[in-house]
Parts: sequence; C-alpha cells; structure tokens
Amino acid sequence: MTRQPIVGGNWKMNTTRASGAELARAVAQFASGSPGCQVVVFPPFPYLLTIADALKGSKVMLGAQDVSDRADGAFTGEVSCAMLKDCGVSWALTGHSERRHVIGETDALVNAKTRAALGAGLSVILCIGEKLDQREGGQTDFVNETQLRAGLAGVEPASLANVVIAYEPVWAIGTGKTASPADAQGAHAHIRKVLGSMYGSDHAAKMRIQYGGSVNAANAKELFGQPDIDGGLIGGASLKPADFGQIIGAASV
Ligand code: 13P
Repeated sequence: MTRQPIVGGNWKMNTTRASGAELARAVAQFASGSPGCQVVVFPPFPYLLTIADALKGSKVMLGAQDVSDRADGAFTGEVSCAMLKDCGVSWALTGHSERRHVIGETDALVNAKTRAALGAGLSVILCIGEKLDQREGGQTDFVNETQLRAGLAGVEPASLANVVIAYEPVWAIGTGKTASPADAQGAHAHIRKVLGSMYGSDHAAKMRIQYGGSVNAANAKELFGQPDIDGGLIGGASLKPADFGQIIGAASV
C-alpha cells in the first residue's frame, strides 16, 4: 500500500508576523520541489491570514494548532472551526502533548475537538504518545492504544480519509532525543494494528501515521524510510527553512 507522505510544521508559539510570512514563502519554495509529499504548516492563530496570503498559489496547506469543540457563542478566547475555515485553514491538530500535559486537555476533550473539526470539514492530525515514565514502565503501546481509541471514539469510517495520526513520544519532543527508527516503527506498527481492530485492515492500511519528536534534517530520512512511518510532524526544525526543506525532501520518495 502506497501512502502519500505528509510533513507538518508545527510552529507552536513562535515567529512574528513578518518572520512567519518569510518562513511560509521559503516552505512554499521547498514544497514545490517535492510534488510527492503533502506539506502543511501550523502558524500561531493571529498570523493565519498573513500566512494564508504568503502561501497563496503554493501547494502548502494551512493548519491550526488547536480548535474549539464548540460551534459559536460565549466561549471567551476560543476559536471555532468555522472561523478557522474562514481564514483559509484546512487542517487542525488535536491532542498535541503540550495541550494534553501542559494545558490539561482530557481524552474526552481531544475527542470532542476531533469530531468538531471533522464535522466542520477540516482534516485532522490527531496526536498521541507516551510520557517517559510510561515508556520506562513498558506502557507505550497501551498508552497509544488508549489515546487512539478515545480520540477517535464516534469517528465514522467515512471520515478516516481526513484523519492522520501523529505518534509523538512526549519524551522526544523538543529534547533532541529521537525514538530510534526501530522503536518508532514498532510503535507505528502497533498503532496501525489498533486502527485495524477498530476499522478493519483496509482502512488501517490507508491511514497515514506521522512520527514527531526531535525530527531533524539528519535523522528524517531513516525515520521516514520505515514501512509504517508516513512522514513527520516537526516542531523546532520547522522554524529553520533549510532544515525543514531537507525534511520535506526526505519524505518525498
Ligand atoms: P520537536 O520537533 O521540536 O521535538 O517538536 C515536535 C512536535 O511537538 C511537533 O508537534
């Protein structure tokens, strides 16, 4: 089964409006040289319109780092899926570890956001992954399975074409420690097996599973070369245009 690789740049709470626009134009340039790979960037909310403008005419898609699970109304500070779409957003992250473990989002909220985004016609990258103590306790597959089942609860098979899973071991995010290609592949294979038990092996074979956690220009190729790894979700290295360009190149087969 050939799955189109997808590389995401999660800018987190970084860049200015000007540096973000410059970065977006550089990403557009790199992406145009890699037709086989989907590329999406996740700028901070206030810059979405500026980045949408900078990406105009390119193949790079625009994503939101978070979404509200509510449609509209008195929810101070929240941003709805409809508002994001109105700004040119077509992808959303849900379940990122920083939102789970720093901000305190529960599996139930991650699920509500995932369903809201899919219902609004956005594509979703659902992030899952274990913390260091869970890994050391041999719980990696258990945690991934729990977060996957909870995150996708109520998501119909018809929506799966709009879902990507990002396996991001929490201990590898922003730490410079990357899962070995073999360990990452093992986790991805288990995730695909769980997807198979939830939706059947045909759907599971088609779904893309990205790796995230200290991916850089030097380690991307070997990680992306694993049979169940379909690209990556990149934090720090996505802020460096040349490095991100190399990572896009590494995903393009
Ligand atoms: P780093 O690439 O900085 O480790 O971040 C990964 C990540 O959290 C992407 O969502």
